[in-house]
Amino acid sequence: MERKWWKEAVVYEIYPRSFMDSNGDGIGDLQGIISKLDYIRDLGADVIWLCPVYKSPNYDNGYDISDYEDIMAEFGTMSDFEELLTKAHEKGLRIIMDLVVNHTSIEHPWFIENRKSKDNPYRDYYIWRDPVDGHEPNQLESVFEGPAWEYDETADSYYLHLYAKQQPDLNWENPKVKEAVFQLMERWFDRGIDGFRMDVINQISKDYELFDQYVPGKDDLGRTISNGPKAHVYLQEMNERVLSKYDVMTVGETGSVTTEDAKKYTGFDRHELNMLFSFEHMSLDKGDMSRLEVIRVPLGQLRAILSKWQNELHGIAWNSLFYENHDRPRLVSKYGDDTTPFYLEKSAKMLAVLMYMMEGTPYIYQGQEIGMKNPYYQSMEDYRDIHTINRYNLWKDQFDLPTLLHFFGKRSRDNARSPMQWDDTENAGFTTGKPWIKVADSYKEINVKQALADENSIYHFYQKLLKTRKQYDVLLYGKYELILENDPNIYAYYRKLDDETVLVICNYNKEEIAMPDVDLSHAKLILSNYEDQSDTLRAYEARVYFLNKQRS
Ligand code: GLC
Ligand code: CA
Repeated sequence: MERKWWKEAVVYEIYPRSFMDSNGDGIGDLQGIISKLDYIRDLGADVIWLCPVYKSPNYDNGYDISDYEDIMAEFGTMSDFEELLTKAHEKGLRIIMDLVVNHTSIEHPWFIENRKSKDNPYRDYYIWRDPVDGHEPNQLESVFEGPAWEYDETADSYYLHLYAKQQPDLNWENPKVKEAVFQLMERWFDRGIDGFRMDVINQISKDYELFDQYVPGKDDLGRTISNGPKAHVYLQEMNERVLSKYDVMTVGETGSVTTEDAKKYTGFDRHELNMLFSFEHMSLDKGDMSRLEVIRVPLGQLRAILSKWQNELHGIAWNSLFYENHDRPRLVSKYGDDTTPFYLEKSAKMLAVLMYMMEGTPYIYQGQEIGMKNPYYQSMEDYRDIHTINRYNLWKDQFDLPTLLHFFGKRSRDNARSPMQWDDTENAGFTTGKPWIKVADSYKEINVKQALADENSIYHFYQKLLKTRKQYDVLLYGKYELILENDPNIYAYYRKLDDETVLVICNYNKEEIAMPDVDLSHAKLILSNYEDQSDTLRAYEARVYFLNKQRS
């Protein structure tokens, strides 16, 4: 196994709008991030993934970019960005940026130009179709609900948008688009950044035949719009032209991928990307959608999926280990138990062990390390997310308000976007002004100040866990081996490398159960979420043992 810095690194994701506001306008910003760099480094992170900070009209909070070479005014200036990069590097932190090149904003100059007329030189930068019988060219839907085609009067035609109508898709078949993207990537690398997280990168190549055949309610939208015929061609070109020239890391956001796809996108010998985000384990909380039901992620399914990714990629490609991001609810509210402070703490720590003792690069989303839970907003007025609002409008006549509030309280993207909880003062120390989105009521109990003061906090547990990972090569590179594969309560596995073995045992549930029958002679407990010992496995108990020269 070849050692690489990005395999041994820990990534901390920042959603700048909600992280830290330095000037009281209620919006997080770059100076806010600069003021918290020590906090991030002390946790044990090595890399910051910065969600988009480029100029944007913010229909989708920066995922709609109007200028790739400028910083969003609310976040600061290019000189703030340079200061952030320099200070981060001084502290040993690298920074990766979000590369959003499946689409731009409608306010990007390319789009403003291209919609002027059919013969505009930029027309080919985007994807246009003539109406069919006065309608959309086909039934393709957008990920954010409604048709994926938007009518434009100027030239009586429709443009494609897989996301919001303010996010028109770029036409990667046009060599000029590709070239422009490669050049902007180079310019960011030349400014000194350390890599990219690539937004919906497996959707840049379109399969127009599939689009034409798509039937709403019948076909899988994710599969229809992902992994198009030229996806690998484009990424190999990007790698050869740009990525291979720099020592940087790349992680693709790729919905609807199998492990076979992953081997193609990220295989060590493929020269495409270093890692990807698979979402196979991320929607297991979906219950019966006809009733908008949400369930706790079932152990059996989670275990089967994570084990498949661990086994299939070992030695061939590299996994990303994550539960949270800016699009997903909070881990403790989804896989864990946020019903009491005790269960919240124990389940948060257990879930950290369960995931981050595996093989792959850990990703931690802001607030995850202090056990932030969903804000459970009580009014639709509190929501800001475009997807949530679109869904609400679509569903409001079909479902009653309590059902909708319950569903969004569990699944809205805003669950990740409530402001970071720094302390127990007004607005959780996030801003001195009026926050752009409501602070969660839990901030009095759950906040960084409290976490730093308590040596048994979730924060300190993460710190210890991340340190432990780096102390043992077996935790970085060892092979995963699942045991007790059908146990209804326990998730347990070995990691093995040469003569080093680590054993991970997690009680996924709150009921106290018997310790499984495993050989613990020569075992040294190196991590546990309870301070005292027991012959049983207590509520959400997690243990990690180092088994010295174990012989089987
Ligand atoms: C990705 C981003 C999400 C964004 C979408 C469109 O899924 O993570 O926040 O809305 O792409 O860019
Ligand atoms: Ca601000």
